[in-house]
Amino acid sequence: MKVLVTGGTGYIGSHTVVELIEAGHEVVILDNLVNSQPVVVDRISQITGTSPTLAVGDIGDPDLVDRVLTEYEPEVVIHFAGLKAVGESVAQPLRYYRNNVSGTITLLERLDAHEIRKLVFSSSATVYGDPQTLPITEDAPLSAVNPYGGTKLQIEQVLRDVAVSDDRWRFAALRYFNPAGAHVSGLMGEDPTDTPNNLLPYITQVAVGRREKVRVFGDDYDTPDGTGVRDYVHVVDLARGHLAAIETMSEHRGFDAWNLGTGVGTSVLELINTFSEVNGVEVPYEIVDRRSGDSASSYTDPAKAHRDLGWKATHDLAAMCRDSWRWQSQNPEGYGG
Ligand code: NAD
Ligand code: UD1
Repeated sequence: MKVLVTGGTGYIGSHTVVELIEAGHEVVILDNLVNSQPVVVDRISQITGTSPTLAVGDIGDPDLVDRVLTEYEPEVVIHFAGLKAVGESVAQPLRYYRNNVSGTITLLERLDAHEIRKLVFSSSATVYGDPQTLPITEDAPLSAVNPYGGTKLQIEQVLRDVAVSDDRWRFAALRYFNPAGAHVSGLMGEDPTDTPNNLLPYITQVAVGRREKVRVFGDDYDTPDGTGVRDYVHVVDLARGHLAAIETMSEHRGFDAWNLGTGVGTSVLELINTFSEVNGVEVPYEIVDRRSGDSASSYTDPAKAHRDLGWKATHDLAAMCRDSWRWQSQNPEGYGG
């Protein structure tokens, strides 16, 4: 298939592009490079032997999107493009709603005009807010606890409404739990521009000596060791979830959502200890106050994705820790180094 990947030079997008190319699909990336670097395309090419086309520009620019659709005529879109920093979204909500929600609406309008009506959307477990029941299934109540989460919820609602308006649309919202890990080659991984907000990139930067110690946000949660529990899922497993979604898309009408996670909950201290053990590196840490907005535990029951998409995560926590460390130790400054 010819696939348009918005946000395809980003962390999850780049790994998905590799899996798409390796499965024989043809890829064009649309990315404005606000949070990624063009050198990613060279890395994709080193891994796969094929260089995807990169169109540099914004999903909210209708003329540009038109040109890309006219030139490449994709059959399906995988839509990663979006801003994702929770704290920044609290400080700059309008920028987040403009970029993520308005950008998606412009993209959908142009896709409709070109009669391209299959789209996979990067949603997030954040749409479950502070989860009341574990494991989290797709029918759990939805709520937004910050503007970033608000953009994901609103986009899902737009997709639901558009699907109702015209039954030719097919939308798959994939709600990722906690993406982690890197490509096994060590050539691609997560490259946060600022101080990492997420735990594993913070751990790798401590391990490589860029930061002094990990701050563990609270050890008084109602969890086995008191630290927060999350469902970490390898980025290559996530990438393969997108392949599964486009390959099964003709079987699913309208809008539907699937949780992508392993179903295994891991605490902050378990992750730090596993990382140290499998990589043989010290990770100093200190316990500090809870981070506001954090919930104690979040993990999914991945049964629906397995049943409908035939997808299951195959990488364990040790693989996520090894691959993240290979990426960080071979590229101490990320793509900029
Ligand atoms: P990322 O920042 O690495 O990738 C997003 C890409 O989109 C970047 O390359 C950026 O330059 C591009 N982009 C942003 N706005 C754009 C616009 N208006 N036009 C064109 N390109 C634009 O992030 P990621 O971790 O790869 O996440 C991809 C998607 O998955 C995002 O939508 C994110 O919200 C979602 N998601 C991420 C996580 C996570 O923890 N990484 C979890 C759940 C959901
Ligand atoms: C965070 C976001 C969520 C987003 C997700 C993926 C918040 C409140 N939530 O989720 O909206 O969808 O990232 O991008 O920001 N931790 C530490 N020290 C750190 C970093 C994290 O102890 O330096 C702990 C956290 O308290 C949590 C766990 O590690 O228990 C995972 O944190 P993180 O990687 O930020 O993911 P989430 O909190 O699940």
